[in-house]
Amino acid sequence: MRTLEPDYDSDPGRWSSYQTPTDVHHVVGPELAGPVLDVGCGEGRLASVLRDGVAWVGLDASWSQLRANPHRPLVRADMGALPFVDGAFAEVTHLWCLYHLDDPVAAVAEARRVLRAGGRYYACSAARDSDPEILPEGYPRSTFDAEEAPGIVAEAFGEVEAERWDGRFYALETRDEIRAYCRHNFIPAERAESAELPLELTKRGVLVRAIRAPG
Ligand SMILES: C[S@@+](CC[C@H](N)C(=O)[O-])C[C@H]1O[C@@H](n2cnc3c(N)ncnc32)[C@H](O)[C@@H]1O
Repeated sequence: MRTLEPDYDSDPGRWSSYQTPTDVHHVVGPELAGPVLDVGCGEGRLASVLRDGVAWVGLDASWSQLRANPHRPLVRADMGALPFVDGAFAEVTHLWCLYHLDDPVAAVAEARRVLRAGGRYYACSAARDSDPEILPEGYPRSTFDAEEAPGIVAEAFGEVEAERWDGRFYALETRDEIRAYCRHNFIPAERAESAELPLELTKRGVLVRAIRAPG
């Protein structure tokens, strides 16, 4: 099993090489009323789709991601030790970030700690069999794939709701777009050269929701 090495400061171009036209932020954003803690906030995609007036705090470990994030306030910290008191937030999100950790359960428990009773939690990840048209052998197993994500969140929260996706949502139209997609997703570069245009990818993954029960 691999922990995806966070390379946001050592190779900022890898992450910024591609951005999906539609993403889970567009599902989660409208559900949030705040105050929300966006853990592993990156460049601020979630904050950019929040409704007006929703109180938001972004937290990330990467200087380059924080520099690229136009939203405020921002906190530089490790998601394993959140610098907030118990029950400070109504919502906590872990979007596309828990596969960077050896022990995602500890980080989910830490997120639960800073949620108030009745507060809502969100995490997401892709499945190993996502993108079969360009990676038929599947992605290597990580510490937080869609296959295990609901069970991992359940270890900290008890009950969870798993909303899975499995479909084609957009096409990669140009060779350069496929190259950028491969770089962004750690797919061997040569796959971009042999792929047929346009490339419609089957995306598979899960959004996990949980509620902090009182106590
Ligand atoms: C794939 S990006 C996702 C960013 C954002 N959530 C989004 O959906 O666009 C993962 C983010 O997690 C951050 N990250 C990785 N390990 C972290 C850690 N231990 N503590 C805090 N942030 C971390 C990275 O710096 C990066 O910004």
